[in-house]
Amino acid sequence: MKIPSSIWTLLIGIVLTLASLWYGQNHGLLPAAATDEAVLVDGLFNTMMIVSTGIFLLVEGILIYSAFKYRRRAGDNEDGPPVEGNVPLEILWTAIPAIIVIGISVYSFDVYNEMGGFDPHSIHEAPMNQESMKMPGAAIAATLSDASTNTASDHDRAQMVQQHSVTIAQNVEEENKPAELQVNITGLQYAWIFTYPETGITTGEMHVPIGRKVQINMTANDVIHAFWVPEFRLKQDAIPGRQSEFRFTPKTAGDYVLICAELCGPYHGAMRAPVVVEPQEAFDKWVQEQLVASKETFNQAIAVNPADLSPNEFLAPYTKDMGIKPEILHQVHH
Ligand code: CUA
Repeated sequence: MKIPSSIWTLLIGIVLTLASLWYGQNHGLLPAAATDEAVLVDGLFNTMMIVSTGIFLLVEGILIYSAFKYRRRAGDNEDGPPVEGNVPLEILWTAIPAIIVIGISVYSFDVYNEMGGFDPHSIHEAPMNQESMKMPGAAIAATLSDASTNTASDHDRAQMVQQHSVTIAQNVEEENKPAELQVNITGLQYAWIFTYPETGITTGEMHVPIGRKVQINMTANDVIHAFWVPEFRLKQDAIPGRQSEFRFTPKTAGDYVLICAELCGPYHGAMRAPVVVEPQEAFDKWVQEQLVASKETFNQAIAVNPADLSPNEFLAPYTKDMGIKPEILHQVHH
């Protein structure tokens, strides 16, 4: 019994499609997806993986099949049949890639748009730095920075920020919810500095709470660096004299690493910073710890005001290192 070739084609088509669909979603090539945006990017990547797997299997399959089926047999010294073009086939193999490429480009534009890539400024109207003071939101910024220098409690401040965010969201017709947490990032050779303008925290590691939209305002002090957290599927240049803005919503708790993705000097490879995605309660606790820590260092700085110290006290740390006893120093002094 002989199975007709159309049945074979159908069967092979079904197997190829199933294999591509399976591999496209089980390739295991990507790290954990830790933001809502990462899910969008992975959807696009998986789609491209499905299409590529299908094309790879089809092309390689036909190649191997043909190499075997049409191999040179013993005693066969003739030329092959002279095949000269096939218009329908050429139209077909031009049309299929064209449709695939157009489809992927439309899909990727949509993903980029959903991530806010086309308009990162749309709801950023509560600026915290000098550069953005020129923007329409300057009055709001002034209020906020005044609040951070007077005695208003952190709670009041957080409320103010929230109220402003709500007003801003109403002004701007945007489906996306407004940024709920601002983080200013500065890249410099060879470190990342994170500042939380709403609380005044400055730190070397970034903490972000799950489920809250984070707005990053990023710049660089010296040369171009680039923000890259593979698990966030986000990469953005940090450019001196310019502010790069982007948003993301953390999704999966974990410890990640911010890697500088722009060759910025001999220690570029070491320019990394810890990134912690954690539940809201853990984040709030961390914020409190940071606030306490910064107050302590502030008090310590006042405690060692040299004007209040006697010469002996002032010199003590140095003379101790030099092996000079305080009593001797006292005698010399007099
Ligand atoms: Cu900074 Cu590479």
